[in-house]
Amino acid sequence: MSEPDWLRLNRANWDERVAAHLAPESDYNTAGLHSGHYELHGIEEAELGPVAQLRLLHLQCHFGIDTLALAQRGANVTGLDFSGEAIAAARTLAAETGIKAEFVQSDVYAGREVLQGHFDRIYTTWGTIVWLPDIPSWAQTVASLLAPGGVFYFADMHPAAMVFDDETATSDKPGWFAPYFGNKAIVIDNVRDYANPTTTLKNTRTHEFIHPLATVVQSLLDAGLRLDMLHEHPTLAWKQFARMVETDGRLYRFPDQPWLPLSYSLKASKP
Ligand SMILES: C[S@@+](CC[C@H](N)C(=O)[O-])C[C@H]1O[C@@H](n2cnc3c(N)ncnc32)[C@H](O)[C@@H]1O
Repeated sequence: MSEPDWLRLNRANWDERVAAHLAPESDYNTAGLHSGHYELHGIEEAELGPVAQLRLLHLQCHFGIDTLALAQRGANVTGLDFSGEAIAAARTLAAETGIKAEFVQSDVYAGREVLQGHFDRIYTTWGTIVWLPDIPSWAQTVASLLAPGGVFYFADMHPAAMVFDDETATSDKPGWFAPYFGNKAIVIDNVRDYANPTTTLKNTRTHEFIHPLATVVQSLLDAGLRLDMLHEHPTLAWKQFARMVETDGRLYRFPDQPWLPLSYSLKASKP
């Protein structure tokens, strides 16, 4: 069976980004991980809690920088990502830093088939479900991988902020980009990379998805999880809009007013 466009195009795009993210010009602080001075963003630092000794699964782990940072805190980590380039780079980074972790190449939706056992924590953050077409299936996968009493931690851009962009701005405020309830893939063609300004991508076409907050929460509830925490934040892990400014904890905010919820985070546990 041939792969759907969203999977094939998005994976080619992500495969290509890996080298750009490992390059010295990248915003990714790989040197910080090597020197033991790598920090997560302020939001998850404040909310995640201790992970030592826990079986932790990092979904959409990219080249493993956060995965290995969590392993440095004593978690027994497994990272999963559909990009072969990302998984190869993650294994190399683990070997170079001497940090123990397991990495598995898989589409997130096949996570239950390819991974053994259950996890005490599942961790998914920053730039993840925007690449996924089906949130109820994603939530079912998360629930199926959690051990009883296990906790899913999720932090990402708020879908309300995804409605806007700078391209359509008519003043100093962002303009309309795509509808909150659009409910279909947004096909994007972009040569630029968010973390490395020197990169010109060749695999430029991607399929991205805005998932309303209620879709995410209801899907997790329908999958049998209990919602333990839901926070909205006026900050985000990257500079989504030109007028945002950097603030504490590797986060960005609007300089004047907290105009929009820029990100949200949640914890959901398996009874
Ligand atoms: C923005 S990155 C997440 C980065 C992570 N927060 C970090 O900083 O390391 C998104 C990741 O999702 C992965 N991805 C996208 N769609 C996926 C899918 N269907 N299954 C598994 N991984 C996927 C990409 O390969 C990429 O590594």
